[in-house]
This record gives sequence, C-alpha cells and structure tokens, in this order.
Amino acid sequence: MKLFDVYSIYDFTPIRGKDMYVYDADGIEYLDLYGGHAVISIGHSHPHYINRIQSQVQQLGFYSNAVQKPIQQELANALGTLSSCEDYQLFLCNSGAEANENALKLASFHTQKSHVIAFENGFHGRTSAAVAVTDNLEIQAPINQQHQCTIIALGAIDEVEKELQKGITSAVIIEFIQGVGGLDESTLEFYKALAILCKQYNTLLIADEVQSGYGRTGEFFAFQYYGIIPDIITIAKGMGNGFPIGGVLIHPDIKAFKGMLGTTFGGNHLACAAGIAVLEVMKKEKLLLNANEIGAYIKTVANEISFIKEVKGKGLMIGLVFGKEIKVSSLRAELLYEHKICTGNAKNPSILRILPPLTITKKQVDYFFKKLEVAYVKQREL
Ligand SMILES: Cc1ncc(COP(=O)(O)O)c(C=O)c1O
Repeated sequence: MKLFDVYSIYDFTPIRGKDMYVYDADGIEYLDLYGGHAVISIGHSHPHYINRIQSQVQQLGFYSNAVQKPIQQELANALGTLSSCEDYQLFLCNSGAEANENALKLASFHTQKSHVIAFENGFHGRTSAAVAVTDNLEIQAPINQQHQCTIIALGAIDEVEKELQKGITSAVIIEFIQGVGGLDESTLEFYKALAILCKQYNTLLIADEVQSGYGRTGEFFAFQYYGIIPDIITIAKGMGNGFPIGGVLIHPDIKAFKGMLGTTFGGNHLACAAGIAVLEVMKKEKLLLNANEIGAYIKTVANEISFIKEVKGKGLMIGLVFGKEIKVSSLRAELLYEHKICTGNAKNPSILRILPPLTITKKQVDYFFKKLEVAYVKQREL
C-alpha cells in the first residue's frame, strides 16, 4: 500500500532524539530549532517523560471515557496550577484541530448561534469547522464552505463590531500571536476591545493557543500578555511533547450536559501520563523562564544582524524576516543539509520560523546564528 501523498518532505530521516537534537541512521546530529512544528516542549526523549509513559503503559494504556479515570483530574489539576487557569473546566481530545472543532461547537451550543468571526492569516486546523475558519481557501473543500464564517483583518475592530451587531455570531476565534500565518500580533487596545465586544454581544471569545500555549511565548498562554479572560482556550502541540493530546479549557460560566462533547481516545491514560510529565518537567526545569530569557536573547542577537530585516513573535515563537534578495526556502534547505539545523517556514514566504524545544541554551542560539550567517552568504552568491 502506498502512503497518500499530501506532504512536501525533506530528504531527511530522524530516527532518534535527545533534548535539542535529533539523529539520523548514520548518527549525524541535527540541532532542532523547529521542534517538529512547535510540538517538542520539554526536549526530545526526556527521561522523566519516558519513565512516566513506560510505567503507565505497563499498568494500563487505555480505557474509554465510560469509567473513572483519576489521571485526567491529576492532569487538569497540574494544568490549572501551572497556567493560572484553575477555574476553567477541561475537555480532553487528541489534536489542535479537534480542540478548535469542539470549541466552536461548544460556543454554538452555548449561544445557540452559528456564525463565527475569524481573522486574516489565521490557522485553526483542517477538520470541518476548524478549516472553515482558517484563512486559506486552498485547503477548504466544498463541504467545509457550508460553515458560516466572516474573516476580518486582524486589528479591524470596527469591522468586528459591525459584524457582531448582526446578533448572529456564536464565537470569535483568534490566535493572539499567529503561527502559520507569520507571527503577526495585534495591539493591546484591539484585544481588550475585542473581549469587551464579545461580552456585549453574547459571543464567546476562543483563544487558539494550540501553538502559542504551553509556555512557548514565555507566558503560559499568549493571551496572558494582554490580561484577557477568554471564554474558551484551545491547546495541543506542546501539551504532550509529541504524544497526541489536545484540550479545551472552558470558562465556568459554560455548563456541560451529558453527551455535549465526546471522544473515544481523548483523555486516555497514556496521553494523560505524557501530559502530566510535560507539566512536571516544565515546572521543575523552569522552562517558562528559559523561554523568556532565551527568547529575549535571540531577539537581541537577531536585531544586530544586518541581513535580518525584522524579528517577530514572543519567547520561543520567533519569526526572522528576510529581504527579497534571498529565498527563505533555499536558506532552510541549506541550513538543514549543510549545517544540520532544522528550522520552520510560514505562509509569509519571507519568514524563517524558530520554534525550538523550551530547553534551548544560549550556546545553541550562538551556534545557529553563526551557521545562519554562513548559509545566508552562500545562498546570496548562488
Ligand atoms: C494555531 C493552530 N491551531 C490549530 C492547529 C491545528 O493543530 P493540529 O495539526 O494538531 O490539528 C495548528 C497547527 O499548526 C495551529 O498552529
């Protein structure tokens, strides 16, 4: 059987990982500044993470959501404490798209409305409603386009209000720092006004923290930079350090009823063990602090490099903006094949994305910029 050919892939086969590095079959070491797309939060194959998962699978890997599972409450408690969102309720699922799909459905149940507002260049996943609120027609099939969604420019508060005045909007979904789109953020004024308008028009505010959450920006959640209280927060990527797990944090004002949401695999024992291990390591190794410190260091160094036009993002969710003289896709390939460094791209083709594990050190940052300079000079000459 052939694999369904939907991914553009590099000629590179990592088979092993350790903290900030992955290794191919020849033992060649690659510095991972991509974290498998912002997924690796505590570093590859962290010993505590391995132990937690191993001992859980020896005991019980899975049972359905029809039985008592104290490990889910253990995860919810640890997440509530570390994120300062103790009051929220947690629904567990398996991916970012699924988290957003459930969030949109929940908002529609709660408000009994069906329209959604989303923003230009946003990305929320590929399931039916999640892709319908994603600003990319190329990845929407006709079936997805049946959802009712208005896409508005990020920051256009008057447009948002005009739409909300129609009284049909169940939810506004937003990435407080856009990931795939290219690290754009709006202003404190816009975010504050958005939260107020949502309350005023009985519309739920969904913070998509699938990429920006779990300490990636230096705060546990990106919205915490703005003092906002979202109605719903969605999480995934960094949550399981690679183990598939996602979640929806739900404000206490939103009440559950039996059968409102559900999943077979969501919140299984193994995924919860992985999720708890991640939070334990984040706390013990003070990874939020590290994301802040190293993120600031990356910005300082990058701002001194003349060929980097702009540095976008927060913490370890960084976009380096290049000028038209260089093709970022070629630069990434050069970094990977010649210098053994993994980096990321964005919808904006002039951006190189840096999304490393939160364990990164200054020494590794210095190594990257040294190699980036060499790769840049070579690519300019071609
Ligand atoms: C902000 C955001 N939301 C949702 C998703 C979808 O997550 P998943 O690929 O786990 O479905 C992504 C994935 O890149 C994302 O960046």
